Amino acid sequence: MLIDPFGRRIEYVRLSVTDRCDLRCSYCMPEDFRDFEEPAQWLSFEETERLIGAFARLGVKRVRLTGGEPLLRRNLPDLAAKLSTLPGIEDLSLSTNATQLEKHAHALKDAGVTRLNVSLDSLQRERVEQINGRDVFDKVMAGLKAARDVGFTRIKLNMVAMAGVNDDEIDAMVEFAMAGSYVLRLIETMPMGDTGRASSFLDLQPVKARLAKKFSLMETAPLPGGGPARYLGTSDGRFNIGFITPLSQHFCETCNRVRVSVDGTLYLCLGQDDKVELGPMLRAGASDTEIEQAILEAISRKPERHEFREAPRKLVRFMSMTGG
Ligand code: 5AD
Ligand code: SF4
Repeated sequence: MLIDPFGRRIEYVRLSVTDRCDLRCSYCMPEDFRDFEEPAQWLSFEETERLIGAFARLGVKRVRLTGGEPLLRRNLPDLAAKLSTLPGIEDLSLSTNATQLEKHAHALKDAGVTRLNVSLDSLQRERVEQINGRDVFDKVMAGLKAARDVGFTRIKLNMVAMAGVNDDEIDAMVEFAMAGSYVLRLIETMPMGDTGRASSFLDLQPVKARLAKKFSLMETAPLPGGGPARYLGTSDGRFNIGFITPLSQHFCETCNRVRVSVDGTLYLCLGQDDKVELGPMLRAGASDTEIEQAILEAISRKPERHEFREAPRKLVRFMSMTGG
């Protein structure tokens, strides 16, 4: 079992399958970003399966495919099919910007992907282009429709809420999510790389109080999945809105996850540089036991918490490297 020094049980891996992306969200990656991982360093599907197999033997039950944009990785559904059937893996989910979801929704469902998170920062076409760097609103809407058509339910919509950028649309987004039976999640911008810095930071605590009143929402128990969001919901349980508030109210005490980047680097905390390079070990012919030992040793060094508030300039890694 993977228990860290603070007694937290690690049972969730966020696996980045590519650091490339077809968008350039203002809070994630600079427009001229070039420092991508060389394809030769990417873990192959076989290497990835072996690595996730080791995590699963150590008690990891859930895996999320992230990026960059995971659907840019060729034949991703083939990898999904392998991971979803690994002994011990109970839940395989995907975070996507949905620009390519229309094409892949069916194959993903067939491959055993259980849940989808879709980034959606605005319902206004021009604003999407402005925030996300490309004119993709129509593609995203088509992707959402395709996902629902093939049977994905309770799709989560992730909105990074930014002061003076899209905060005037929060109520419209709540209505959109209610009407479409989506779970909406509002996210505070985190300082990552040179992006997501203070200028547009929006404290979600007052927003939460206001929405609770306006839409008659109550605090609810966490939704399945064990994520950091704190939820409000309607009394009939049909609508939920989550608040991911790394700055205004952090959630590190209940952290249950680690991250693996496309080259097989295990990152122990989203906001810290602590890491172990498992890719070279896999390639040097390490045994399953050696890989498990390296994972156990890494977890014994998992940092207690991020310091986005206290040391916002600390982290120089971009979100596209470890997929949020
Ligand atoms: N702050 C908060 N969330 C971010 N994401 C990416 N960069 C940031 C950031 N700086 C999240 C967004 C996006 C997902 C892929 O990662 O929710 O939808
Ligand atoms: Fe791409 Fe996601 Fe980063 Fe936006 S947040 S640029 S969709 S990786």
